[in-house]
Amino acid sequence: MSIDPMKYRQVLGHFPTGVTVVTGILDGEPVGFTIGSFTSVSLDPPLVGFLPMVTSERWHRIRASGSFCVNVLGDGQSDLCWQFAKNSIEQPFEGVAWHPSDITGSPVLDAAIAYMDCTIDEVYDAGDHHFVMGRVVELEHADPATEPRPLLFYKGGLGRFQAH
Ligand SMILES: Cc1cc2nc3c(=O)[nH]c(=O)nc-3n(C[C@H](O)[C@H](O)[C@H](O)COP(=O)(O)O)c2cc1C
Repeated sequence: MSIDPMKYRQVLGHFPTGVTVVTGILDGEPVGFTIGSFTSVSLDPPLVGFLPMVTSERWHRIRASGSFCVNVLGDGQSDLCWQFAKNSIEQPFEGVAWHPSDITGSPVLDAAIAYMDCTIDEVYDAGDHHFVMGRVVELEHADPATEPRPLLFYKGGLGRFQAH
């Protein structure tokens, strides 16, 4: 049975995700793109994953670097979500505060509410995407006193989490 691509997108759009910027550094140049397909995988060993398109130019650069950092965006960072999603922007890091992580040197965005610095453990073929599994080597979250709230993506738009 064939699935209509438009219907596929519409139905899958009903599943909300958080928003991350996955970063890396290659030949001293920071690379980063917006990723919603981030998932935790395993606690022992500590593994996380995400799914980039096989054709993604930025994924190929991050893959070549051997490591990546997952930056979780907060609900005030919609601008960063779009900035890192546009492939027309040559340098999405312009005007963005970041520092290299201690272990892999991948960019940690100052505005992120949490980050996980990873080495690439495995890359699996998954249709028109790859499933990238990373081993977490360092991680941190924002100070709870700042009451961090996540940015959410749902049916093509951005919003915020509201507790019941
Ligand atoms: C909210 C949101 C989530 C996204 N999630 C993914 C994702 O999980 N995988 C992916 O390959 N691209 C995702 N994208 C698209 C990428 O951010 C980006 O547009 C794409 O990698 C550009 O291609 P390039 O790497 O060749 O420059 C997402 C975009 C948005 C706005």
